[in-house]
Amino acid sequence: MQSQMTVTRFFKMKQKGEKIVALTAYDYSSAKIADESGVHMILVGDSLGMVIQGESSTLPVTMDEMIYHTRIVAGVAKNAMVIGDMPFMSYQPGLKVAIENAGRFLKETYASAVKLEGGATVRETIKALTEAGIPVQAHIGLTPQSVHMMGGYKVQRDEERLLSDARQVESAGAFSVVLEGIPSEIAEKITKALTIPTIGIGAGPHCDGQILVFHDMLGFNEGHLPKFVKQYARLGEAARAGIRQYAEEVCSGKFPAPEHCY
Ligand code: KIV
Repeated sequence: MQSQMTVTRFFKMKQKGEKIVALTAYDYSSAKIADESGVHMILVGDSLGMVIQGESSTLPVTMDEMIYHTRIVAGVAKNAMVIGDMPFMSYQPGLKVAIENAGRFLKETYASAVKLEGGATVRETIKALTEAGIPVQAHIGLTPQSVHMMGGYKVQRDEERLLSDARQVESAGAFSVVLEGIPSEIAEKITKALTIPTIGIGAGPHCDGQILVFHDMLGFNEGHLPKFVKQYARLGEAARAGIRQYAEEVCSGKFPAPEHCY
């Protein structure tokens, strides 16, 4: 990648049939690794509520926490576009609140876009934000901030509604849309129907790009994982083994050795 990714470059990638690689990151080290490894889009996701804060959902995450993490990530990324995820209740109360909070991502961090969840219901919000000059990534299908309305983290199968949501976020001005927890055939239809790129997570291979959560795909998260996660490394296991050996060597006096001493 020659320079930082932009909204226009994502449109061109879709037109040329080039796949978009997206990944979440939340801190300096993960962002640097992602940015230097060919990731086009880094989402500072509110999934940090679960993988960083250990909460059972994304709902408790605050705007200030999102700003803190997004500033760190966006300060490192030189190639990927950085997107700040708008947390629960940072845009739902009304357009003014949404514009003020979305604006914070662009003013207080170096992020160049925001993401928010919802289809037809957030149409006016997406329109207001894009009119204010803030690029918006939409997120439809399984939307974790509505976990209680959906009755759990469930695959969404209402094709008519999903297609309508996708068309509405596109016409409202979103520059891309995350499709989460949607059968592959529906995601394929949506991808073909839209001119903006679709980024899938649990939405099959036909999306214009894919996104995964950093901790899930690298194996830090050793508990139950959704079916759509592929683990490309087992860093949790490697870290445990390394720390166990460190503990043994400290206790036995093997560490530090002469080469570690001044
Ligand atoms: O919060 C997040 O990380 C997300 C992605 C999984 C799309 O919304």
